Amino acid sequence: MQISPVRISETPEWHAVTAHSASMRDVHIRDLFASDPARGRSMTLDGADLHLDYSKNRLTAETIDLLARVAERAGLRERIAAMWAGEHINVSEDRAVLHIALRAPRGQSITTAGVNVVPAVHEVLDRMAVFAERVRTGEWTGYTGKQISTVVNIGIGGSDLGPAMAYDALRPFAERHIGCRFVSNVDGSDIWEATEDLDPASTLFIVSSKTFTTLETITNAKTARDWLLANLSDDAAVAKHFVAVSTNAAKVAEFGIDTDNMFGFWDWVGGRYSFDSAIGLSLMISVGANAFREMLDGFHAVDEHYRNAPIRENLPALLGLIGVWYNDFFGAETQAVLPYNHYLSRFPAYLQQLDMESNGKSVTLSGEPVDVATGPVVWGTPGTNGQHAYYQLIHQGTRIIPADFIGFVAPNHEVGEHHDLLMANFFAQTEALAFGRPAPDGQPYRYFAGNHPTNTILAPKLTPRVLGELVATYEHKVLTQGVIWGIDSFDQWGVELGKELAQRIVPELGASETPDLAHDSSTNTLIARYRAGRGRK
Ligand code: F6P
Repeated sequence: MQISPVRISETPEWHAVTAHSASMRDVHIRDLFASDPARGRSMTLDGADLHLDYSKNRLTAETIDLLARVAERAGLRERIAAMWAGEHINVSEDRAVLHIALRAPRGQSITTAGVNVVPAVHEVLDRMAVFAERVRTGEWTGYTGKQISTVVNIGIGGSDLGPAMAYDALRPFAERHIGCRFVSNVDGSDIWEATEDLDPASTLFIVSSKTFTTLETITNAKTARDWLLANLSDDAAVAKHFVAVSTNAAKVAEFGIDTDNMFGFWDWVGGRYSFDSAIGLSLMISVGANAFREMLDGFHAVDEHYRNAPIRENLPALLGLIGVWYNDFFGAETQAVLPYNHYLSRFPAYLQQLDMESNGKSVTLSGEPVDVATGPVVWGTPGTNGQHAYYQLIHQGTRIIPADFIGFVAPNHEVGEHHDLLMANFFAQTEALAFGRPAPDGQPYRYFAGNHPTNTILAPKLTPRVLGELVATYEHKVLTQGVIWGIDSFDQWGVELGKELAQRIVPELGASETPDLAHDSSTNTLIARYRAGRGRK
């Protein structure tokens, strides 16, 4: 697809936001509320089951309107339509971007290159459901006839973070007699710890890799196979204890996994957009096919909202616009995401890949250097833990840190008064951040300036459906911002150089004779020191 991105900084719409931002620079959120008593009700928006309150931001209705004009000028509506039409909006990899088809209901048609991809999606989902059910009921056994009690997903990046995050998030809905573990790091301690107390006869490995060439995953998978065979001593055991999730059947077969036990997906699913594909197999085994489908329905509900709602009433788009406002007009460098639900512990880590691998770019779709700030550093941990750690800096530090607070009306477990305490803190934090408090006389260190921007996302309860809605919301927020910045949110060339250099260094570390090191003097010296420490010449 030939996309000619608008150089957004040169448009009158961007200039209008720049001028407006100057007039907003010294405006306090306190004053915005004082001048509009209805603000806390009017600056809200619902998308599927998610309720967004964006009133505690340093912006007005005019700000939203001007930012929406920027999105329109950047061609957001057209790009959303192009995505749904299966056009190759991932320009540098010349691929369609169709994660939205992964959650399309049976019967919907989404085509790319003239092929409706939805039937193939459901064919794989159905196979996954059959397999997951067999594992859950104990019909699928290991080589010795034992039932599976632990599933170990081996993958990294998008083939790890999504299922790992969602497995934690949906623990209340999980089948507890089967545990899932997630091995990603090439550091041998990861696979060692994950397998150390396991019985190979009741362990199932899911090797998840889109490409099936990723160094970490293949290394861990080989180690897992050696571990299994060291105990079960028959190559035939591999077929009962290893399944694969990949787009690369040839490599799966080459590894020794029966392609009958492979669950496929497609090159139009980016790794970080993939846990609702077969990459979510471990999750489906844990929560069952019905809960998995509910999650997909949640994704789909937000997809439809995003595709159809006008930009100003579009929840993911609005989150994107507000992010651009702080990123590009207030110099914010980070975006905090603070879920007030312990089951969402890994949600910020998941979002780090989704957002930073997507929008950490510095050339436009046409290959020009960008001249606006692109993706922020995304970070966060679940509340209330962060309150007793780094919130100090958000309240009284010198930086502007936009934060998304995510909370739930109903708890996953009614335990005493815990939930009211949790949510009291949730509401108190955004109130304190927005409004601040004057310092008592002579105690300037007790001054809370306020004016710290937050979004509040309030959902009824963390369920499979709501998890799908949350993830789809952030996926589409990322696209919205990528379109405005004129970048390709679906490639990840920035990970290549480090991989290549590591391949060059591997033999230098292991060589029996002193290798000829031709790096810079720092890298040479560090490698020599490492070799010496390992007793090599
Ligand atoms: O190196 C980055 C990356 O390609 C991610 O985009 C991806 O999610 C991850 O590696 C894992 O890739 P694969 O699923 O092909 O093993």
